[in-house]
This record gives sequence, C-alpha cells and structure tokens, in this order.
Amino acid sequence: MLLIKNVKLVDALGERGPADVLIGEGKILSLDGGEAETVIDGTGLFLAPGFLDLHAHLREPGQEVKEELATGLLAAVRGGYTDLVSMPNTTPPVDTPEAVRALKKKAHALSLARLHPAAALTQGQEGKALTEAGLLKEAGASLLTDDGHTNEDAGILAAGLLQASAFGLPVAVHAEDASLRRGGVMNDGPLADLLGLPGNPKEAEAARIARDLEVLRYALRRSPTRPYLHIQHLSTKRGLELIREAKKAGLPVTAEATPHHLTLTEEALKSFDPILKVAPPLRTQEDVEALIEGLLDGTLDAIATDHAPHTQAEKEMDLLRAPFGIPSLEVAFPLLYTELHLKRGFPLKRLVELFTDGPRSILGLKPIHLEEGAEASLVLLDPKERPVEPRNFASKARFSPWAGWVLGGWPVLTLVEGQVVHQALE
Ligand code: DOR
Repeated sequence: MLLIKNVKLVDALGERGPADVLIGEGKILSLDGGEAETVIDGTGLFLAPGFLDLHAHLREPGQEVKEELATGLLAAVRGGYTDLVSMPNTTPPVDTPEAVRALKKKAHALSLARLHPAAALTQGQEGKALTEAGLLKEAGASLLTDDGHTNEDAGILAAGLLQASAFGLPVAVHAEDASLRRGGVMNDGPLADLLGLPGNPKEAEAARIARDLEVLRYALRRSPTRPYLHIQHLSTKRGLELIREAKKAGLPVTAEATPHHLTLTEEALKSFDPILKVAPPLRTQEDVEALIEGLLDGTLDAIATDHAPHTQAEKEMDLLRAPFGIPSLEVAFPLLYTELHLKRGFPLKRLVELFTDGPRSILGLKPIHLEEGAEASLVLLDPKERPVEPRNFASKARFSPWAGWVLGGWPVLTLVEGQVVHQALE
C-alpha cells in the first residue's frame, strides 16, 4: 500500500483536494487516507492520471542506434506517460501481426509504460497494398498509420478507412501533400527565402487535410461501420479551420498537436540548428495561436509528442541533410505546463485532459478520474522549476530545442496500475 498525503488532484473533471490518496491492488482505494507501508508527503505537488502519448517513434525494430523500447519507454515514464503508441516507421516497418506481438511482448517484459503499437496501414508503408487490419487488431495494434510517409493514393486511404473501420481501428494520417512539400526543410515564406532554405508550404498540409476529409466522407457513405480518421501533428491555422468545420459537420475526425508546434516558430530556424528540422515544419506565431485556440475549443483532442529520436551525428549534419524530428517525451508536460498554463493561463484541467482522456478516447480507452476505485495509473507532478538538461535524458537522443528552458511541472513519480515505474522524489 502506498499513501500520498496532502496532495492536490487534477484530472479532466477539474482541480480539487488536497486529499490523502491510498493506493493498493492497482487501484485508488481511498481519498481519505488509511494505513500504508510507504507514505509520500504530497504537499505542494499535484496528482494526475497517467499520460497517454498517441505518437512516439521508438525506432524498434531496426534503428536501435536512435532509440529502443527500453530507452524510449523509460523516457516515457520519466515524462509521466503510463501509455504510449509507437509508430510503425521502423526497419522493417511494423506491418504484420507477428511484429506487433513481438513489440507488445518485449514492452510488457520491461514493466515501464504500456505499449499500444500502431501498425502500418499499407504493406511496407509503401502506400500500395493494405495490411491485414483484422489480424493486426487481434495482435494488439491500436491504430493504423503510414506516419513518417504521406498517403499519396487517395483510393488506398479510402480502402484502408473502410477496412480498419470494420475492426474498430482508427486510421491516423501524416497530412502533407508530398508534391507540394517536396524538399522543404522549413516553413515556406519570406524567412525561408531570406535564409536561403527550401520551404515546405502551409498549403501542403491544408490541401492534404481537405482531401483526406473528402476521402473520409466517401468512406462514411460507403461503409456500414463507422470509419474514423485521426490527423497527426497539426501545424497550421488553415488545417485547424478545416478540422473545425468538419467536426461541426459531424465527421468522425480527431486531431493532435505536438509540443514543438505549440511552443516554437520558424524564427528559431534563424539559428540554422538541425535540431529544429521537423516534419511538418515549425510555422508562424499566428499558427501557434490558432493551435492553442484549437486546444481550448476542442478542435484538437490531444497533445501528442511525435518524439522522433535521431543520433547526435545525424542531427549535427547541415539542415539540408539532417533527418526530420524532435525528441520530447521527457519534457512535453513540463513544457506545456509552463508555457501554456503558467505563462498564458491555459486551464490546467484542459491541459491534463489533452494528455489523458483526450488521447485515451481516441484509442477507445475509458477515462481515468481520480476517485475511489479508479485504476492507479497516475503521475505525481512537482511545480518546482528547473532547467531542461538533455544530457540527463533516458532517451538516446540527448539534445533538445528546449535545453536550458526553466520549467515546472516535472513528473516525480509515475505509477502503472499501482506499480512504481519512475521515482524522482527529493
Ligand atoms: O519530424 C518527423 N520525424 N516527422 C515525421 O513524420 C517522422 C519523424 C521520424 O520518424 O523521424
């Protein structure tokens, strides 16, 4: 039994407490205290449901030099995540039931965050032939996506939505039109011109979202089951507006935004630092403001990291050659707690919802609220501020665009069904 005394509570229902939270048998047994072998003083800390990341690249199998399950899932629990969806753009891509089972088995043995592998929508993520949605679902796949690649063939996407829906699986898309994006390494516009760098236009995202919403309409019309589209790492104001309209029209679409698209802009590229090279690219302050509005009004359903580790050597190449991707599992919550909640007054309750019930509902998982009988997959957060120190990351990618930023809201204890999987209490 574990007792966390005098701790404030926050979940999607709101902030309350302080309470004395008694944990045992994998559950919250009481909010009124009780006998326990281990007692933690929660004064000044707050307790939330464990986070779920809908979008992380853990690079296993095949790219363990960048990340592996052991380091990625440790980074996850250190970031307060109890559940995580791994992307299938590995080497080879995760496109078979055997590959999904192997990941689940290995992750289970690590006893860190629970892994919900995403599987490829198309064989080899080549966009040509669909994978076996039913068998992938049976093996434990949480959603289907060709993330890391764009779905250029609308007909394959439509067929994928129809097939996935028959098995209750969402399809997630990396919404960029490859022919518009071409070799862009940053947001297209005057700054890219000034810096002499090839631009990736915002219209590449908006055009693809508009197309995908039409594909979804078609799939809905043709299917007795309910196809469901999730749009990954939204970066533009126009893309957001399209999703807002689609939701108003009742389309079954959800969307996520990343920590980097919510806190950084193209201005950062003035440094020419390849750490900032990411797909879709960092945009403008106007886009950031629109995304934050979208988090507030429900157009966006989740904050997902797109944790994309690469080797130091790869990220030390020049901007044209370095790979796309920013690692963020260990800083995502403190970053948004500080930059959105503390600095801009973004409601803590909604922020926590975007890390918990928002992404959970996309996977069809029940909400976790801090009440008697709830599953004890929880995170204890410390508002005390300290700087981001990438050299201490558990992830193999020990670099960060936020290095040195002073943040509060660090996870100091993470529990999965009552078991301690991360502890950094002073
Ligand atoms: O920046 C990105 N990195 N965007 C993606 O879509 C893929 C990801 C990766 O796998 O590195």
